[in-house]
Amino acid sequence: MHKLENDLELKKNAAVPEEELRAGREAASRLRERLCGRGLSYFIETYGCQMNEHDSEKLAGMLQSCGLAKAETKIGADVILFNTCCVREHAEKRLMGNVGALKKLKDEKPGLLVCVCGCMAQQKDVADKLYRRFPFVDLIFGTHELHLFPQLLEQAMEGRRLARVRELDGEIAEGLPVSRNNGVSQFVTIMYGCDNFCSYCIVPYVRGRERSREPERILAEIRALAKDGVKEITLLGQNVNSYQGDGGVDFPELLRRTGKIEGIARIRFMTSHPKDLSPRLIEAMASLPKVCPHIHLPVQSGSDRVLCLMNRRYTRADYLALAAALRAAVPGIEITTDFIVGFPGETEEDFLDSLRLAREAGFSAAYTFKYSKRSGTRAAGMEEQIPEQVKKDRLKRLNDAVAEGLRAGNEKYVGRTGEVLVEGCDRRNAAMAFGKLPSFKMVYFPGGESLIGRTVRVNITKTSVNSLIGELADQKG
Ligand code: 5AD
Ligand code: SF4
Repeated sequence: MHKLENDLELKKNAAVPEEELRAGREAASRLRERLCGRGLSYFIETYGCQMNEHDSEKLAGMLQSCGLAKAETKIGADVILFNTCCVREHAEKRLMGNVGALKKLKDEKPGLLVCVCGCMAQQKDVADKLYRRFPFVDLIFGTHELHLFPQLLEQAMEGRRLARVRELDGEIAEGLPVSRNNGVSQFVTIMYGCDNFCSYCIVPYVRGRERSREPERILAEIRALAKDGVKEITLLGQNVNSYQGDGGVDFPELLRRTGKIEGIARIRFMTSHPKDLSPRLIEAMASLPKVCPHIHLPVQSGSDRVLCLMNRRYTRADYLALAAALRAAVPGIEITTDFIVGFPGETEEDFLDSLRLAREAGFSAAYTFKYSKRSGTRAAGMEEQIPEQVKKDRLKRLNDAVAEGLRAGNEKYVGRTGEVLVEGCDRRNAAMAFGKLPSFKMVYFPGGESLIGRTVRVNITKTSVNSLIGELADQKG
């Protein structure tokens, strides 16, 4: 696998050939005709990050174009699709358990189609294992074959059992149908893959080389979303800062062009790698009013020694300098982050560096993970793997520190008034509306469905564990 690291010149930004996309649309239309009137439905279970969530919206769009409707539960569905994640072992184990549990359902309902796709399925050895271990799984396909789903589904419905994993080819599939989960805030993928090869991370192996969508395609998609009433978009990529669109459009320029689209009130993006966070991007964040004052900037560790072993290519001081520059340029900016504890060779001293950083850097949220050994990555071959109990203990200490910081960070909002873009009403209590402040803080307040899609002023009155509670302020001001 390491060969890939020295082989980053695969063709960039190439598109899936039109014939392939056309074949997908044709397969969908054949299925739609064949399934017409049968009332079939699908259920998708998604694991992992926002990229996967958005892929699931595309998979749902394709299923709907094939004539299937969304089912509320697995039990009622005729097609069950698992969109998997392989970033950590935990998600893999959960997937294996949940797929295994379907055997009974399949025995009771032989017509049920069980499909597995996504990052786990993209690894040939894992796909083989799934194929052998679960004979009742009908279809397995990788991340590079998402756009082939209608054809694959058609074959599976004809009774062929398939496991398809394509070599990395770096092609971008445009124009797939998308069934969006939220009418107010939407994801838009701007780039795929990652070239960073952090030593612990499997993503560059399964998602392939970095390739960027054409800026005009992205902007056209956002314009169409704005027309449909979408107010907030989140530009997605494993490392958006290295977006490189045709015609020399880099990420700050893409933000600038997005900022001109009428109807879009808020722009977010995720994820940023600290080594690629340029002064131009900070300047764009400071000068573009629609770009929200929030950045997800994974630090991973507070120890220079561990950062070097992780191949992150910045130091603790570099990171803190970036955070200071962001805070100076963008008043009120909230920084969220990711930490990994128990990386191979992490000493107690290294861990204390992370703990100190978590206390000092003023993160408004931190996602914390125990290091998970991913076969084929450089870190998997490192000596001094850390015992599970030590990882657990460090995770707990780090989580306690993060929670303390979060509480203090939330307290500072109490007594303030903020602008909330209302996304929905609480499922368990329809009289409570919720939405986010520009800084990404979630706010709940008494309010009804009529507010969805509006930006309202809310007085923050108290905090709860992960969110803020408030009440509608006088809207005239
Ligand atoms: N073990 C634990 N956490 C990982 N991440 C990525 N790979 C691993 C791994 N092998 C975490 C990183 C990354 C986030 C998406 O997942 O913190 O930022
Ligand atoms: Fe993985 Fe590093 Fe790429 Fe993020 S930047 S996806 S952690 S290799």
